[in-house]
Parts: sequence; C-alpha cells; structure tokens
Amino acid sequence: MAVSSAPGKVYLFGEHAVVYGEPAVPCAVERRATVDVTARSDGRLRVDAADLTLDGFTVEYGGDGAPDVDVPESLVEAATGYVDGAVEQAREAADAPEIGFDVAIESAIPLGAGLGSSAAVAVAGIDAATRELGVELPPKELAERAYRVEHAVQDGEASRADTFCSAMGGAVRVEGEDCRRLDAPALPFVIGYDGGAGDTGALVAGVRELREEYDFAADTVSAIGDLVRQGERALDANDLDEVGRLMDMNHGLLNALGVSARSLDAMVWAAREAGARGAKLTGAGGGGCVVALDETEATRTALHYTPGCEEAFRAELDTEGVRRED
Ligand code: PMV
Repeated sequence: MAVSSAPGKVYLFGEHAVVYGEPAVPCAVERRATVDVTARSDGRLRVDAADLTLDGFTVEYGGDGAPDVDVPESLVEAATGYVDGAVEQAREAADAPEIGFDVAIESAIPLGAGLGSSAAVAVAGIDAATRELGVELPPKELAERAYRVEHAVQDGEASRADTFCSAMGGAVRVEGEDCRRLDAPALPFVIGYDGGAGDTGALVAGVRELREEYDFAADTVSAIGDLVRQGERALDANDLDEVGRLMDMNHGLLNALGVSARSLDAMVWAAREAGARGAKLTGAGGGGCVVALDETEATRTALHYTPGCEEAFRAELDTEGVRRED
C-alpha cells in the first residue's frame, strides 16, 4: 500500500490571462487530496471516492468496459477520468502495463470550485501508484505527467498551473511551458465557497469571444499580465498591502471580462469591508470560491454570514507540494 497527498491551490493573480500566454501566480493551500493505492494482480481497477463528491460512490471495472455504477455520469467522469489517467501514467512510468489497483480517495478540496481538486488527485494518485510499484518520480516529473492527465480529460484546455503548483507547493509562476517556484512570504488566505462551480470551458470560451470582438477585452487580458508582473515584485518585497491591492484590481479586471458572479462579488465585498488586504475570485469564476488575504478572523467571520457563502475557511499558503503519507 502507498499513500500520498497533494495540495489544492488558489490563483493569487492571473487566471484566464494565462490562457493567452500571460504569466499567472497560483499558490498551494493547506487543503489536500489523499490517495491510497494498493496494487492487485488481476488487472482490475477499483476506485472508492467517498469524499470526492457530496454523494460519494464506489466504482469497479476491469479497464476494458464502462464503470458499473448508479450515479450521475458527470460525477463518475470527474473521479474516474483523473484516476484512470493517473493509473495509466503510473503503469507507463513503472513499465507495468497489466497491473491493477485498489484506489481510495479522500479530498478536503471542493470539486470544480477553482481550488485545483482534480490536479491534486492526479498528482497524489501518480505518486502513490508509482511508489506502490517501486518507482520514485521527482515532483517535476509528477507535475508533467499530471498535466498530461488534465490535458487529456479537459480536451486540451488545461494550463500547467494547477498540476505544477500541486506537485511543487508554495507560490509558483506559470507562463506557457515555463513553470517555477517563487520566493513568497507567509500568505494568510481565507477562502469563501458558494457551494457551486463554474463551467470552466464555457467561461474560457466567453473570454475568448470577448477578446476577439472588443479591443478593451484584449487590453484587459494584457493588463492582467502587467498586474501579475507587479504582483511578483510585491511578493518579492514582502509587501502584503500591495499584494492585496493588486488582488482587488485583478478581481475588477476579471469582472470586466464577465467571469464573476453575484455570489463571488458579494463575498469579495464582504471580505474587503471586514478589513481584508484584498480579495478576488479564484479560478475560472462563474461560481465557486473567492480568496482573501487576512491574518485576523474578521474576514472568515464576515464571509460566514454573507448570503450565498456556504463555507468560509482559512487555508494558509502550503509550502509543501506532493507528500508521502504512508
Ligand atoms: O477553475 P480552475 O482552477 O480550473 O482554473 C481555471 C483557470 C483558467 O485560467 C480560467 C483556465 C486555465 O486552464 O488556466
């Protein structure tokens, strides 16, 4: 048996613009997905994902047929797409194409809410499955293999941000294929979750259309790129007030691109009024999570009482990426 965990992430700056080659700064947060893997000689794959969704389910199949389950297909795809991909990557890396696995997933990261839950499952899954087969991969290779999984499941629309950040931990900078860790101070994140999820594909397509039709939208995307570069300098200087101001501006620019939502705006304003240094949506938008910067309890309490906020929690910057748990 091998058990690995990997963190989720928030975007400090740069989502959506990263799709057009601008830099982005995702940060790993202290909310993890844990994957427990045991090899089995009959080649079958059994996935137990009780915590991955609100419903929880178990699927079992042999690899050549469809999973035999009685739950909505989208939930099955969410769990099995990434687990299948992770298992395939592990089989390839360990040169063991016929091996089967029992896989159990526990995740404290809300699904599809801009916190990188699927990347964390893919990274931890590949690490646990390869270690179970006696192969130890460095975090950068885990990141690359997990990226291939996301890329395949999301029909080529994935950036390297989530998988690189989850494998490496800390604050990272992603610009196209160039990914690296950044020096960053402790970042006291507070996350507000509206209980929903945006449709990433539709939101990315919406920004693409806007950008083609209006010069202001193309300018907004490059303004986000400039803002990210300024944000990197603020992180380097440990200037959290400036980081917060830039988060506020980044949310405004995302709003102009049409990817916010009433629930996200309400949480962003509640955080600002409670004294957070800054607040913005994180990820594709449309619903899901906001991230605020505040070392006191005031923002979490304010979010807790904000209509539309289902859960508010603290999740500091996690400097550790994928980690062995067995
Ligand atoms: O919602 P998430 O965490 O999957 O982030 C999407 C971020 C986008 O920039 C909108 C798309 C991408 O693949 O980078």
